[in-house]
Formats: sequence, C-alpha cells, structure tokens
Amino acid sequence: MTTPHNSAKPGDYAEAVLLPGDPLRAKWVAENFLGDAKLVNSVRNCLGYTGTWNGKRVSVQATGMGQPSLSIYVHELINVYGLKTLIRIGTCGGLHASVKVRDLILAQAATTDSTIVKDGFGKYHFAPIADFALLRAAAEKAEAKGMKVHVGNMLSSDIFYHVEPGMEGYGALPSHGVIGVEMESAALYTLAARFGVKALTVCTMTDCLVTGQSIDAEARQTSLKDMVALALDVAVQ
Ligand code: HPA
Repeated sequence: MTTPHNSAKPGDYAEAVLLPGDPLRAKWVAENFLGDAKLVNSVRNCLGYTGTWNGKRVSVQATGMGQPSLSIYVHELINVYGLKTLIRIGTCGGLHASVKVRDLILAQAATTDSTIVKDGFGKYHFAPIADFALLRAAAEKAEAKGMKVHVGNMLSSDIFYHVEPGMEGYGALPSHGVIGVEMESAALYTLAARFGVKALTVCTMTDCLVTGQSIDAEARQTSLKDMVALALDVAVQ
C-alpha cells in the first residue's frame, strides 16, 4: 500500500484526473466513458480508475464528500502520484434564481466557511481560484456544445444542513454573486495553489435553494453525461 488511503502504485494514475465525490460515479465514468479502464485504487471503496479518452490517458478518482475527505485524496494525488491537472465533477445547490436546474456552474472562485483553508495563512483570507486555462477551456467548450453555463463564485460549505431554514443559512453571499453551493472546491483550489498544479470544479446545479426546484432522475443522468464529456475534453486537451 502506497499510502493509508490509496493502494495505487506510482505511475498508475494519468497526469489528469476527474474527481467525483461518489465512488460509484467514478465507477460509472470508468465503465461508460473511458477506454481500457483499470481499477487503480479501492481502499475504503473510494474507487479510482485509469483509462483513455480520445486516445489519451486520464484517471478518475472519488474523493468522498466534504473538504477534509477531498483534501486527503488530493494531497496524495499531487504529492505521492505527481498529478498535474485535477477537475472536480459534481453537483451543487443553486443560490441564485438566474441559475436553473441542469445548468452548469464553473467555479471561478470558491468562498468557504471552512477552517481548512485558513491553515497556514495567519491574518490573511486566502482567495481560492480556479486555474484560468482550465476555466477558459471549459467555458469555451461548454458554449460550443450549446450547454447553459455560468462562471462565478461557488460556496464550498462544511455544512449541508444549516440551523437556519432555507436561504437564511447563506447570509449575504447570494447578494455578493455567490451562485452555487457544494462542499469541496475551496480546499481543492487551495491545495492546487499550494503545490503548483491546475484545478477546476465543474458542477451541474441539481437543487435550486431559491425556488425549491430539483432535477428529475432522467435529466440528472443526461446532464451528468454532458458534464463528464466536457470535463474529459478539458482534462486531456
Ligand atoms: N448544498 C445544498 N444543496 C446541494 C448541495 C450542497 O452542498 N449539493 C447539491 N445540492
């Protein structure tokens, strides 16, 4: 075992990886999108695979939910396995009525309530941001495919169930341009900055917290397919 969380050997991963939270989504991506996919990690059932997309090597590794879990996998993918391009694929809640369910959000920056980003910055509030080349490529490719895409500030929260009901838990964030909420990107972007690699989060908005609208099962599947194909295109470019 190479790390306590990952049984892959050096070289088992490609330089670029897609990062879903859900292990079964990693399996689904490997089985439905990648050529010649091989399982490279199954410690704790946090599945990772390497295969090909358009003839180029690419990996997919689950991170689990939330920033502490993602941080363990991402730290090791970068520092033990040498990965250079990390693209989170996920779902998010919507904090703005202009973002409709099924729309794509590219997280240009990630606001957070998490203390995980504070570690090491003392009096400073570090601003976690996406890699610009990945962000630009994803925006251009999404538009070319006719997908509805928003580029903006994402909340990476440590809290799924807030004490305050509905939108109250999000305070002044929506009125400051924070358009979506998930639980991972701020840590991903901070680790990418710390270790000099590229990262981006691509999310399908599945639950609008303003209107209460949710995506239905069939639309969820189609939207996820489009998002995975887009993320793979960006990962191997
Ligand atoms: N918070 C709220 N709603 C959501 C989330 C989240 O992290 N992810 C998907 N819908």
